[in-house]
Amino acid sequence: MISWRKHYKKGLIAIGLLLSTSASIYGQDGDPKNGEKLFKANCTACHALGKQVIGPDLKGVVDRLKTEQGLDTDWLHKWIKDNKALRASGDKYANEVFEKFNKTEMLAFPNLADKDIDDILAYTTNPPVEEPKVDPTATTATGTANATPANNTTSSIVIISLIAIAGLLVWILIKLRQLVKLGQSEELTGLNETRVKSFSEIYEKYHYIGKGLLAILAILATYGIWNWIMWIGVYKGYKPEQPIYFSHKIHAGEQKIDCQLCHSSAKYGKVSEIPSMNVCMNCHRTVSEYNGKYLEPGKDKAFYDGEIQKIYAATGWDAEKQQYTGKTTPVEWTRIHNMPDFVYFNHSQHVVAGEQAIINSFNKKNPDNKIDVVCKACHGKIDTMNVVQMANDFTMGWCIECHRTTEIDMNNGYNKEYFKNLHEKLKKQYPKDGGKITVDAIGGLECGKCHY
Ligand code: HEC
Ligand code: HEC
Ligand code: HEC
Ligand code: HEC
Ligand code: HEC
Ligand code: HEC
Repeated sequence: MISWRKHYKKGLIAIGLLLSTSASIYGQDGDPKNGEKLFKANCTACHALGKQVIGPDLKGVVDRLKTEQGLDTDWLHKWIKDNKALRASGDKYANEVFEKFNKTEMLAFPNLADKDIDDILAYTTNPPVEEPKVDPTATTATGTANATPANNTTSSIVIISLIAIAGLLVWILIKLRQLVKLGQSEELTGLNETRVKSFSEIYEKYHYIGKGLLAILAILATYGIWNWIMWIGVYKGYKPEQPIYFSHKIHAGEQKIDCQLCHSSAKYGKVSEIPSMNVCMNCHRTVSEYNGKYLEPGKDKAFYDGEIQKIYAATGWDAEKQQYTGKTTPVEWTRIHNMPDFVYFNHSQHVVAGEQAIINSFNKKNPDNKIDVVCKACHGKIDTMNVVQMANDFTMGWCIECHRTTEIDMNNGYNKEYFKNLHEKLKKQYPKDGGKITVDAIGGLECGKCHY
């Protein structure tokens, strides 16, 4: 009897703990919806949830600072309102994190009310699930433009499994409680005796089913958690709002402007930069309004004209006087693609040296979905997207898959020079597929090639 009672108490404590931890996760003060708006308006230039951008990853920052630094929300309020003042006051962590981010200045937000900051923090603690988007079914490079929108099956599996397990626990506890109660009455009445008996009979009969159910739940939960862990930081379909509604469909699609006119650095180096506002002004000094036939559903000429005006506001262009006023405000595009710091990816290697190899290989694999521009093999059909979204998952598996299957052109300028002597040797070493040499043969699977 006593042991029943003990277990019953333990069970209650366990459930209590479960409930209280989930309450501390989900029971934040503040309105995450409003927080999301404020966050997008003020913070996304430098912060994201789930990854580091210019500033630290702010997902769960309240809990992180509390557990790692022992700092409370009071500190966060001070930091967000005026981080400089906080640093000047000699605050230890404020100075530490500033050093850690190479003394990059965060803006001060003296205008945010305490309630606003609580809302933002609620958002960082408990963001709505639809963004960033996760697609657990995508494991291979397809390069299609239609990245499937948010697919939250994994998190639903986790949640459903947890709810089911919790339900089962509650049921067992209720049953135990009944048993304990029965045990407490000194003499079992005839009725209770049969109850106890029938309960053990039921247990005898059905415990295999119960155990089976538990096993299935455990497997589901493990599967869900595994998937969740594997896909942290994968942002296929990620599609943030930008400060100017710049449409690739209109520029690269309708107007057929070459990708590299704007992203000219892709050819020469590691990074393919977002064009500066001067590049926009090359055309928009004269293109001051939108007269295109194409209108995205829900948008009209007035909307596009307004967006073009933002270019003038940012560059300080006075369209009437046709001169610059000298007052500029930088446009802070939200970065969409962002590899972790420990990955080395070089555009030029792929856009120049690998160009033909990648296009040929992609078109062979996707005969119904051919591409003309190398960029689309990795970024999808950007020229059909009004808003850029990540077309692949950009994981290590994705890089490797392509390196394994893309036959390189040993005669292109780069490889001919570089692999003069190796070429013949490689041909002998790689007799598979009749001497086809894929990227892995030249070291495309070596850790050090992609990792610092
Ligand atoms: C101009 C870029 C920029 C903007 C805009 C910005 N931050 Fe920051 N933030 C940073 C940088 C950089 C750091 C790292 C510390 C440093 O260098 O000062 C940081 C640090 C932080 C930290 C400390 C996090 C930690 O992990 O220790 C918090 C909290 C924070 N920012 C919140 C916000 C909020 C909330 C907003 C919007 C209201 C915001 N930031 C807007 C750049 C920015
Ligand atoms: C007229 C200039 C222009 C042209 C042409 C253009 N882009 Fe862009 N591109 C931009 C601007 C501005 C942004 C940043 C805003 C955004 O994300 O939409 C951008 C963003 C991107 C991004 C996302 C960058 C990030 O933040 O990770 C990719 C990828 C990209 N462009 C690829 C292409 C490809 C591929 C083409 C050709 C099919 C192309 N672009 C043509 C101006 C241009
Ligand atoms: C090579 C010329 C060229 C460049 C460079 C260029 N644009 Fe455009 N842009 C156009 C043309 C042409 C139109 C459509 C005008 C029409 O159809 O009437 C347009 C339309 C627009 C529109 C309205 C449609 C939309 O996409 O929302 C915006 C906003 C815009 N451009 C922003 C930008 C920005 C920001 C940049 C710099 C990153 C830029 N453009 C660079 C030529 C250019
Ligand atoms: C082999 C795949 C591949 C090809 C081909 C490719 N990109 Fe990228 N692109 C990437 C990856 C990976 C990133 C993320 C890089 C990072 O975060 O360091 C990226 C990032 C970008 C960005 C964001 C800025 C940056 O460099 O991080 C732009 C803009 C871009 N690509 C444009 C282009 C254009 C334009 C082309 C064609 C001329 C192109 N890309 C071809 C894989 C590719
Ligand atoms: C669409 C196919 C494709 C994808 C995706 C791709 N690569 Fe490549 N990569 C190539 C090709 C083709 C070459 C060889 C180019 C050449 O030199 O001919 C190459 C070469 C390289 C090299 C040089 C290898 C060497 O030995 O010189 C590095 C490093 C590299 N890629 C890194 C990456 C990283 C990191 C990613 C993922 C973020 C990636 N690649 C994704 C096709 C791809
Ligand atoms: C072709 C390029 C490439 C090669 C070769 C490569 N990696 Fe990676 N690796 C990546 C990219 C890209 C990421 C980042 C993936 C992400 O952000 O989801 C990554 C991430 C990782 C991570 C972090 C965990 C994760 O999955 O995000 C580890 C650990 C790692 N790589 C180890 C290795 C080791 C060990 C090797 C050699 C056997 C290796 N890598 C070879 C491109 C490569």
